[in-house]
Parts: sequence; structure tokens; C-alpha cells
Amino acid sequence: MSQQAELSWDGHQAKVPLVEGTVGEKAIDISKLRDQTGLITLDVGYGNTGSCLSAITFIDGEQGILRYRGIPIEELAEQSTFVETAYLLIYGKLPSKDGLKCFSDLLTKHELIHEDMKFHFEGFPPNAHPMAILSSMINAAGCYYPQLLAPQDTKDFDDETAFIISQVRTIAAFAYRKSRGLPFIYPKPQLKYSANFLHMMFSEPNADYDLKPEVVRALDLIFVLHADHEQNCSTSTVRMVASSKANLFASAASGVCALWGPLHGGANQAVIEMLEQIRREGDDGSRFLQAAKDKKSGRRLMGFGHRVYKNYDPRAKIIKKQCDELLAALKIDDPLLDIARQLEQTALHDSYFVERKLYPNVDFYSGIMMRALGIPVEMFTVIFAIGRMPGWIANYREVSESQGGRICRPRQIYTGTPLTHYVPVDQRGNA
Ligand code: SDX
Repeated sequence: MSQQAELSWDGHQAKVPLVEGTVGEKAIDISKLRDQTGLITLDVGYGNTGSCLSAITFIDGEQGILRYRGIPIEELAEQSTFVETAYLLIYGKLPSKDGLKCFSDLLTKHELIHEDMKFHFEGFPPNAHPMAILSSMINAAGCYYPQLLAPQDTKDFDDETAFIISQVRTIAAFAYRKSRGLPFIYPKPQLKYSANFLHMMFSEPNADYDLKPEVVRALDLIFVLHADHEQNCSTSTVRMVASSKANLFASAASGVCALWGPLHGGANQAVIEMLEQIRREGDDGSRFLQAAKDKKSGRRLMGFGHRVYKNYDPRAKIIKKQCDELLAALKIDDPLLDIARQLEQTALHDSYFVERKLYPNVDFYSGIMMRALGIPVEMFTVIFAIGRMPGWIANYREVSESQGGRICRPRQIYTGTPLTHYVPVDQRGNA
């Protein structure tokens, strides 16, 4: 007999079933609540609401645990690559050696964007934010390959998946080159995913970028750490759009738009802007922290806090360690890193942050690492989007293959004007 929860209100009672997840997390299943009781639930911001059953990623926010298809992020960060992790998220298991080679070859097959896509770049002003370019160019890419918009079988799905993962990287690099008035650098089939991205970003027609192994490894790790994160804002957006049976390109482009916000994927850019402001103002961080604790200031300690993690974000721990190693290997002394470390130490001992369980999240150190890789700050959220693409595709696929094909359509509680009637304009006065 499945467990139940009992509801009682206004002299009524009702029993609703409980569902239990793989590691024992429990939820009240309210799928039949309104039919059964006439009640709906309200949870602004969805902090207490599970939107789906999902087998892709598990997070325990209290313990600071993150697993992709059951594998701890620490093991994947240490031993895997972004391409292998992407395969794991999308196909649900680590690939065989042949499987990995096939997937990698598909990514190579799709690495070139359609030549006519280059004209779209001409339509953007030089200062266009690359996230605006990325979201529009993902949909534009789908226009050139309509057969990918409606995959008929698993081969089509494999092609569509590899196409988007590969093209998002080329589009991002081309957007950067365009913003700097630089010639496009085409991908090289002999280069693997992250190395090819760095090549397209930083090589010149007459001089190949020096692909230092520690730089390629650092970027690949950033992609691994950003690859999925259960029902975050952008992934939930992708699932919402997927539920209307929109194509994968439209869903992925919607994910890019949701990710852009400074409370979400835009936080990595906001962290660097915050650290630079602190340095510019000659602040040792204490003035900024004071402001971040004052609601009226409109400021927040960017890169701190998380809706789910009420403990240290495990990705932040990994990035912080990798950041130290990378800067040492590249002999970079970044004053922003010193400010970040100081801010972290002060905040972790400040009752305001401790009481609210605000810890560094993935964005707190990732920007410093991307700066060390030579990636400009306006491209930071684009890097996040490239990393998150496999997670979005895995969630899109999960919606398409399960969820009973139902469109996502939440209810609401109406708090507007009671019934009123139309008044012709000449009887409305001037108010
Ligand atoms: C990502 O969801 C995911 O999984 C996202 C992500 C992923 O991989 O997809 O992990 C990536 O988006 C990481 C988060 C990046 N964003 C930031 O670093 C922006 C700064 N952080 C916040 O704005 C905030 O912490 C959120 C948006 C991340 C979480 O917000 P919540 O859960 O809505 O928390 P809240 O706003 O209700 O805050 C609770 C309290 C409030 O104070 P009180 O009203 O209780 O007095 O904590 C305070 C907030 O004012 N607070 C902060 C703060 N974050 C929360 N105060 C100062 N600085 C902060 N950063």
C-alpha cells in the first residue's frame, strides 16, 4: 500500500498519495488534487514543488551532493570529459569505447555551421550580447536542416543531438570573433570538443592558438561541471517548451534566454563585475558585504546562495581548487581572486550569510577561471550555455519520451479586480 498524506480543511478530509524517489526523498502527489478536493496548491517560485519525475540528475542540497545518472560530480570531474559526460546525461549510461568514438565522430561531422549562417552575424550590431546571438542563431541553424526539426527515429535524434551540441560551440566562437571584428576561424576535425572551441576563439588565419593542455583541460572541466543541474530555471524552461511538442532547437533557444538572467547563468558575469567594482572602489570587500546584507541597497553577493544548496555547492569546491592550480600553472596573479577569497572567508563567518545558509555556488569562482583562460566576461554565460546543452537535451528527451505527452500548464490564484464591465471611452473621465 503506497503511503498517503492526509489533508483536512473547512471540515473536509482527503488522502493524497506520497511518491518516493531513488534515495528516499518524498513528495505529495497532487496530480488529482483539484478533481478530488477542488483545491490547488500555491508555491511562488516553485521552492517546494516537484515539476516532474526525472532520472537524469540528483542533488541533495543539504549534503552538497550532485550526481549525473548516479555518478558523483567529483568522479566525473576527475576522470571524465565533457563529451563523455554529455553522452552519459543524454543516453543514461557511460558509452563504450566504440560508442564514445561514434558520438565524437558525429560531433565532428556537425561542427561546421551552414555557410549562409554567416550572413546572420552581419545583422547584429557589434555590441550585441552573445547570448542574444546564441539564442537566435540556434533557431536559425534549425532552419537550414528542417529534417532535424522532427526526428523520426533514434538515428535522427542522435544526429540532432550531436548537431546542436557541436554547432552551439561554433556559433558561440563565431559570435565572439564577430564582436571583435575578427575573421571567423573554422573548426579543425582533428581537434576534440574543447580544444576546437579554443582554436575557433583564439587562433588567427596566419597563426594557430597554442593549445596548452592545462587550458584545454580547465575549459573541459568547466563544461562538465555545468552540464546539468536538475530542474533549475533554464532546464525547467526547456521542459516547459518541450511539453508543447516544440522542436529541440526552439526548446534549447528558450533555455539560453532563461539562463541569461543575473540570478541564474548570468551570475558568473555579475561576479566579475562585482569583484571589479570592489577593486575599483578600493574596498576590501567589507563595504560591499554591508550593502549585500541591506535589502534596500539592491545589491547581492553574486555567486553566493542557491535555491537548493544550503551547503557548499560541490561544483564551487572543484572549481576553486582547479582555479588555484590553473593560475599557478599559467603563472597568473589575479587580484580579483584575492578579493574573492577574502569575500568568501568573511561571508562564511558572517551571521547574515550563515543564518541563511548562503555559500559560494558554481558561479563564484568560475569567472576567475574563465578570465585566466582569456575568455571575455560577456562570453561567460555563453560558456555556461555550451556546458548546459547536454542537460537541456537530456531533459527535452525525457519530456518527449515520458510525461504522457501532457503539456505543462500550471494553475494560479487570481487576485485581480472582481467582475466589472466595459465603459465607453467618453464615459471614463480623465483618471
Ligand atoms: C545558478 O537552480 C540552479 O540549479 C541554478 C544553477 C545551475 O547550475 O543551473 O546552480 C546555476 O543559477 C547558481 C545561482 C547563481 N546566482 C547567483 O549567484 C545570484 C546571487 N544569489 C541569489 O540571488 C540567490 O541566492 C539565488 C537566486 C541563487 C537563490 O535565491 P532564492 O532561493 O530565491 O533565495 P532568496 O532570494 O529567497 O534568499 C533567501 C534569503 C533572502 O533574505 P531574507 O528575505 O530571508 O532576509 O537570502 C538572501 C535573500 O535576500 N540572499 C542573499 C543572497 N542570496 C540570497 N543575500 C545577499 N546575497 C545573496 N547572494
